[in-house]
Amino acid sequence: MKLLKVKDYNEMTDILLQYFSNQVKRKSDSVLSFTTGATTKRFLTGFADIINAGLDISHCTFLNLDEYVGEREMPYSVYSFMHTYLYNRIDRKPKNIFGLDAQAPDRDEELKRYEFILQRYKRDIQLLGLGTNGHIGANEPGTPFDSKLFVADSCISTKEATKKLFHLKDNEVPSQMYTMGFREIMAADCIILAASGKSKAEAVKKVVEGDVTEDVPASILKKHGNSIFIIDEAAGSLLKER
Ligand code: GLP
Repeated sequence: MKLLKVKDYNEMTDILLQYFSNQVKRKSDSVLSFTTGATTKRFLTGFADIINAGLDISHCTFLNLDEYVGEREMPYSVYSFMHTYLYNRIDRKPKNIFGLDAQAPDRDEELKRYEFILQRYKRDIQLLGLGTNGHIGANEPGTPFDSKLFVADSCISTKEATKKLFHLKDNEVPSQMYTMGFREIMAADCIILAASGKSKAEAVKKVVEGDVTEDVPASILKKHGNSIFIIDEAAGSLLKER
């Protein structure tokens, strides 16, 4: 895993934008898989600006890592987030947009449908955010490293983070997510994990300095041949070597 230490959120966003833009310029039919959340919000709007300025994504496929179980258009859903910060902002659309369906009537069928899409469209880049407990997607601590696309129960710290980010009341906080498992995450050609801010500092330390263990889900990325971990100064503030 390559470590990329940057100053702050803005620099992290700029680097993410460079990676994604260069990927599309290099390969016009790139398959790009996004994640939602505070970490990637400005990246998504920035990517929309770059697309509107002429980056040709017409042959690309865009998809997502995970999705809450519930109503498709809830303010916190991945569907709403992606539309608000990327899809509704771009004048040209990628060839394909895929996502998990929050309100699919049959969960098993939905998992099968998405698994098929992931097999058909090999991802060039998988973007990931880091949970304060080290989770990636909704693979919480303790999830077996051989996990496959599944519906996960969210930990308390994850629910708290969602509650805060979307200003939800207790009874509005979603508790389950469809998520790629470690198997699908690790199948991407390149994985970019991004962490910004002090709240991520402990998790960053465990990932960077600790062992590869199911207790720290993101630590598995150290086993991937082409993974990049972008850390800003606040997120890296507990590292021995800064
Ligand atoms: C959430 C989501 C992830 C996200 C991560 C980081 O729980 N399941 O998709 O990447 O945690 O979120 P944030 O960037 O808001 O810290």
